[in-house]
Amino acid sequence: MFLFQLWREYKLSIAEILNVFPDGNIVFFDQKNLILDHIDEKTILERSPYLGGSIKISEVSKYRNYDEIYDYIAERASEKWWKFQYGLSVFGVRSDLKKQLTTIKKYLKEKSISSRFVNQDFSNVSSATIIGEKLVQKWSDFTLISSRDWWDIWLGKTIWVQDIEGYSKRDYGKSRDMQIGMLPPKLSQMMINIAWGEHIYDPFCGLGSLLIEAQNMWKQSIYGSDFNPEMVQLTAKNTGSHNIFLFDARDMAENNIFEKQTIDSIVTEGFLGEIMTKKNISHERISIQKKNLSKLYTKFFSWLQSIWFDGVMVISFPFWELEKKYVYFNEIYDILEKYCKIQDIFPKNSELRASKLWSLLYKRDTQLVGREIFKLKIKN
Ligand SMILES: C[S@@+](CC[C@H](N)C(=O)[O-])C[C@H]1O[C@@H](n2cnc3c(N)ncnc32)[C@H](O)[C@@H]1O
Repeated sequence: MFLFQLWREYKLSIAEILNVFPDGNIVFFDQKNLILDHIDEKTILERSPYLGGSIKISEVSKYRNYDEIYDYIAERASEKWWKFQYGLSVFGVRSDLKKQLTTIKKYLKEKSISSRFVNQDFSNVSSATIIGEKLVQKWSDFTLISSRDWWDIWLGKTIWVQDIEGYSKRDYGKSRDMQIGMLPPKLSQMMINIAWGEHIYDPFCGLGSLLIEAQNMWKQSIYGSDFNPEMVQLTAKNTGSHNIFLFDARDMAENNIFEKQTIDSIVTEGFLGEIMTKKNISHERISIQKKNLSKLYTKFFSWLQSIWFDGVMVISFPFWELEKKYVYFNEIYDILEKYCKIQDIFPKNSELRASKLWSLLYKRDTQLVGREIFKLKIKN
């Protein structure tokens, strides 16, 4: 069994994991962790480098009491002839990290094993520390999970940790302009993984953030378009791709990309509408945006229906925060009802439900606009 430590938008993380490992069976989840069985380590290690929403993955087993856990760690420690360096993270109600770390240290000392835990200030180990101390290679990063609902305790040994350096490298070199209004790389990866295609088209490509991630995930082909020539130029430059075109999504009749190319998925952030600030956001302005966006998406989806597009679409639509309440883009639901079939993103588990229509929500506290993400197919 394998434990996935989840990103802060845990429902999105779970949706991604279940799409990437469709045979996986949920044993347990909460807001921080997901345990799956029916998956094997080889598949996990092959696919994990491209997961956006998992912080680390561990192989887990169940133990009846803490002594069994200490024995297991002591066994691992005695395999080393150098000082045993390890990390421990705990989740759940019955575990106190400080107590565990001091007990393990004492336990190992009694067995004449010298050890050093890498935890700082008695808090869970960060990805940076796991990478810096090479704990995955040393097989010595552990995670303990307990719950009020079970007697057993789970102990996991980390087999993979997210490449945080890779993310910062990809951000490095992007100009300041690029950072503004950019789709976060992790969210791009999750949307691409939820679509699970190989030939990806972004019809609102903007600066190309999503397509850059698709390239990093070694997708077989990428295509992009935008109605702003500057964006087309920038995406072409940022991706080095020749498949970036100038197209208005309201008038795609001239767009014969689907005749010429095999496209199995449309993955896009979509147009979020005019950028609003705390000073100028109002119900009136939101209504105008909704009207314009409704026209845009009606034309876009009816065109996809007219060409019998058969692939998967993962698209985000905006919702807004005004007076501490969310204002949803309800009009889009009618449009989707007319042209699309909403695809299940995860099993219909009520705890995973984020919205009425089982879409996923993503919003940062500081932003006025959020994204509601749907997985769709065209009704043909
Ligand atoms: C939210 S941005 C996408 C940003 C992109 N995901 C990124 O991270 O760079 C939306 C893009 O949609 C484009 N757009 C808006 N209306 C459009 C239309 N009718 N047809 C094509 N592109 C459009 C805008 O020019 C903008 O670049």
